[in-house]
Amino acid sequence: MRFGVVLASRWRWAVPEVPDRTRITIVGGGPAGSLLAYLLHLEGVESVILELRTKEHVLERVRAGVIEHGSAEELRKAGLGERMDKDGFVHEGVRLAFGGRLLRVDFKDLLDKHVVIYGQTELQKDLYDAIETAEITLIDEANDLRLHDIEDESPGVTFTRHGQTHTLLCDFIAGCDGAHSVTRDYIPPSAGKTFERTYPFVWVGVLSETPPVSDEIIYANHETGFALCSMRNENLSRYYVQGSAEDRLDDWPDDRFWETLIQRLPDSVSDRLVTGPSIEKLVTPLRSWVSEPMRRGKLFLAGDAAHVVPPTGAKGLNLAISDVVYLAQAFADYYATGSTDALDAYSDTALSRVWQAVRFSWWMTTMMHRFPGVSDDFDRRMQLTELEYLERSETARRSMAENYVGLPL
Ligand code: FAD
Ligand code: PHB
Repeated sequence: MRFGVVLASRWRWAVPEVPDRTRITIVGGGPAGSLLAYLLHLEGVESVILELRTKEHVLERVRAGVIEHGSAEELRKAGLGERMDKDGFVHEGVRLAFGGRLLRVDFKDLLDKHVVIYGQTELQKDLYDAIETAEITLIDEANDLRLHDIEDESPGVTFTRHGQTHTLLCDFIAGCDGAHSVTRDYIPPSAGKTFERTYPFVWVGVLSETPPVSDEIIYANHETGFALCSMRNENLSRYYVQGSAEDRLDDWPDDRFWETLIQRLPDSVSDRLVTGPSIEKLVTPLRSWVSEPMRRGKLFLAGDAAHVVPPTGAKGLNLAISDVVYLAQAFADYYATGSTDALDAYSDTALSRVWQAVRFSWWMTTMMHRFPGVSDDFDRRMQLTELEYLERSETARRSMAENYVGLPL
């Protein structure tokens, strides 16, 4: 690989020159785009990643934390599991708090499976390291991106970088550019359908350098709203509380956040909570959004570019992983055999798993949150009855566990 300007960054990455042509142009260097590039590399298929932001920016985003059983297996198969297995935390269950008590759903006992708590930030680091070692071309700060000829033999992507315009021709384009995707706009409404559900609340999230309150994730349903206790390591906790749809960061000073969290947890948990200054805070809206189909001509969408789920089921990152596992295999089949069968099936294959995750995230969101204006006595009773059913029925817990650890790919 030829190198152009040397980027004076903390990581001292070299910025590769933009080639004229590649096999797959990947738009977006988040988890979906970077994992796709690496899986393609393992199959001997060349690709180039175009990322809007700087690599530093991508690496600093604090997002998901739960890796499903099957996603962890896929990462290990690709040789990307070493740090996850060393620094991640295997969780063999999850807890649901309601009515002042705690219910444990035991994945190990019910299914002999687990999830791994490993921050998206760490996974992104592993992916960028792997990409660098494999000498996969990643062009960051790629702006004003436009796609051309996506229904023709040789599609292309035009973009600018530091004021200079570049055109990259390719065989296929993978749109992995997240929830605010521009590649998705190349699948016009007349060619498909979108499905959307916006939830009338937000999550306020805090990262704090305090020991986690529990060794397993706790999802809490309280009459005043939802709360979640999660973690990144022994001295880094991640907590969320439900806020109002119109809330902004300024509405949530640390004191209000901790008071709200304490109120929503059972005493047996809140008694142990160690609070501290937030080192990161976000307000994130909750919505379910699916764009069908995930393909037009030579353009294939993957990850948040095609679908967004509320974080309640911890599915967003895992769907990005399963999409690109299917897509990488389909591209590999095409280059190995010339057959387009797997590429033609990609959208349906990915969407059938996506809808399962949309359903599960919707179910957990509905069961755990207070719906303003709607949560009358009947709805509240339905939530508690659903939770009590989980408490009474091993079959109900098994169903929840199966979805939480992730349906097989
Ligand atoms: P992204 O991670 O969004 O990556 C897309 C990449 O494309 C980005 O790097 C972006 O800069 C780049 N890009 C965008 N536009 C362009 C363009 N025009 N040209 C080139 N590049 C472009 N999921 C969970 O499972 N659990 C959670 O707790 C959770 N919390 C979240 C909190 C927040 C605030 C957000 C925003 C998401 C959260 N998610 C969570 C969802 C999860 O992080 C996403 O599902 C996951 O990041 C999807 O990966 P992706 O690669 O598809 O998209
Ligand atoms: C997190 O650790 O950030 C996390 C965990 C579980 C979720 C969502 C977010 O459902």
